[in-house]
Amino acid sequence: MIIKRLVLKNYRSYKNTIFDFDDKLNILVGNNAQGKTNIIEAIFYLVIGKSFRTNKEKEVINFDSENGYIKGEFENRFRDFDIEMFFSKTSKKTVKIDNITIRRIGELMERANAIFFSPDELKLIKESPQERRKFMDIDISQTNKRYFYLIGRYEKVLANRNKLLKNSKSIEELKNTIDIWDRALAEIGEKIFIERKNFIEKLSPFAQLAHSFLTSGREILKISYNSSFQDNYKDNMILALQKNLEKDYKNGFTGIGIHRDDLDIFLNDIEVKNYGSQGQQRTAALSLKLAELEIIKLRTGEYPILLLDDVLSELDEERRKKLLKFTKKTQTIITCTDFKEKVDGKVFKIVKDNN
Ligand SMILES: Nc1ncnc2c1ncn2[C@@H]1O[C@H](COP(=O)(O)OP(=O)(O)OP(=O)(O)O)[C@@H](O)[C@H]1O
Ligand SMILES: [Mg+2]
Repeated sequence: MIIKRLVLKNYRSYKNTIFDFDDKLNILVGNNAQGKTNIIEAIFYLVIGKSFRTNKEKEVINFDSENGYIKGEFENRFRDFDIEMFFSKTSKKTVKIDNITIRRIGELMERANAIFFSPDELKLIKESPQERRKFMDIDISQTNKRYFYLIGRYEKVLANRNKLLKNSKSIEELKNTIDIWDRALAEIGEKIFIERKNFIEKLSPFAQLAHSFLTSGREILKISYNSSFQDNYKDNMILALQKNLEKDYKNGFTGIGIHRDDLDIFLNDIEVKNYGSQGQQRTAALSLKLAELEIIKLRTGEYPILLLDDVLSELDEERRKKLLKFTKKTQTIITCTDFKEKVDGKVFKIVKDNN
């Protein structure tokens, strides 16, 4: 999978610019605040339907304009296809695939695939379980539209159950009405649980391999999916929801379910979140991302686009060289402030005034 061309019109700092990318390596070099990350963000937007920087889609429209537009011309092993997005300050964005407007953002799934990595992705290791669930959900959704919609349905059911918990006048009233939401939550939860567990089981050996490669075999990375129930998910979940009803009622929200799950990450059997050094955490996050490349390859038969924002400056020379080796398999787009290594690829000088 590659992106051949990116068109940006009134997107962030870009008025009207076209990038024709190399099939393999692309290096975007420039000083700070010149518009490098803006390019990576636009590609990510076309693939996932969201920005990694903001939830407010109007923010990406150029300050001087009412509308913004981005287009990606992609090629997978079967065919070429285009994805376009039209941003407006007065209405929601519209998305077209091959010139046809899609009605739901889920239609973007199973189209273009990309893996994004930046120093900020350290949050995948350091921050709350929500970040690790997001990591799993974004990756699985990219090649599994059904999963994307399952997550949406789960969130709706959860919101309804929480509303009922808050609005019921007594626990007796609640007992008569909550059953239907418990069952729905457990049923959808089980499906999500199975997909996530499978995903982590497949990801685990690849993550171990990538980490071993990056650290020259010095560290062993182990990951496992941490869920409230390991088997018989649906029945166990219904029982637990019933058992916890009083507590949930008091709190006004649902305390168990796949929305509380986590991904456990260990280096040499030590939990990296609490005990890893900054460099170890960064490398572990990178290993997870590199492993995702292999998972997408397994599922689709080809590697996704690899987007690396500002990561080179954060790695020591040995790891940097190794990372660049890794990128040989995929089309890679890297941003950096200076680049000295000799490589085969296309170098783009990014200067704000030319945007
Ligand atoms: N909606 C917008 N309209 C116009 N300019 C914008 C908009 N959003 C961001 N910018 C500008 O884009 C620039 C930042 O671009 P970007 O984040 O891509 O920089 P960068 O080259 O990645 O820099 P760094 O090396 O610091 O990461 C800023 O100068 C900012 O003012
Ligand atoms: Mg940047």
